[in-house]
Amino acid sequence: MTYENKMRSVIKAISWRFFATLQTALIVWVITGEIKLAVSAGVIDVIIKIISYFIHERVWNSVKYGRTDRPSFVLWFTGLSGAGKTTIATEVYHELQKEEYKVEYLDGDVIRSIFPQTGFTKEERNRHLGRVSYLASTLSKNGISVIAAFISPYKESRKFARSLCENFIEVYLSTPVEECEKRDVKGLYKKARDGKIKHFTGINDPYEEPENPEIVIDTSSKNLFESKKVVIDYLKQKELI
Ligand code: ADX
Repeated sequence: MTYENKMRSVIKAISWRFFATLQTALIVWVITGEIKLAVSAGVIDVIIKIISYFIHERVWNSVKYGRTDRPSFVLWFTGLSGAGKTTIATEVYHELQKEEYKVEYLDGDVIRSIFPQTGFTKEERNRHLGRVSYLASTLSKNGISVIAAFISPYKESRKFARSLCENFIEVYLSTPVEECEKRDVKGLYKKARDGKIKHFTGINDPYEEPENPEIVIDTSSKNLFESKKVVIDYLKQKELI
């Protein structure tokens, strides 16, 4: 919630008075033709109205009526490596930042580069995603919406994230493994096929499809602009932005 401090109200009161008083003095001068009277009216006007404007502002500041705060949310992207999670999530993040929403972006590769010892077994992924879920829920409780992009292949960890976070929106990028492998942006699918990487999701490790995701996008049939629009439209429809 944005809150105007007292000094801001004082400065606004002064700037407004400068224009308003000029108008008052002009009106008195035009009607009476007397400059002295116009100046006197202006001076009295300034004193009385600065005080009353300040009081008026402070009273309204404490009135909640008609002021609604959009609730924060957690937008959780899940899907195979190369499905487009980071690309779409980053686009959505920048769009919301541009509109000055309080939003934070959490990405699997980034968090893993900070904690490089995080492994890829089921237990290690679940532990890693458990920490991320807690972080997301804490940010969200403090009014900062979160965009998270993690493969998060197990139902268990996504369910845990959902249980911690209010307004949890699961975005499932359903792009088939054949398409992701064809893209192979990081060359990891090839390494997994060659047996150089263990536990690689979609090749030698499972991906459990979400049962009831709020949003499903297949990036083999939707471009970046269309995909971003699906997400933004959903947030608008739910009155979250
Ligand atoms: S998650 O399964 O624990 O959610 P996360 O999203 O954090 O995964 O990290 C996935 C990223 O790690 C991939 O984008 C890829 O770049 C990299 N990576 C390295 N090894 C693997 C692997 N065995 N399985 C999946 N991703 C891997």
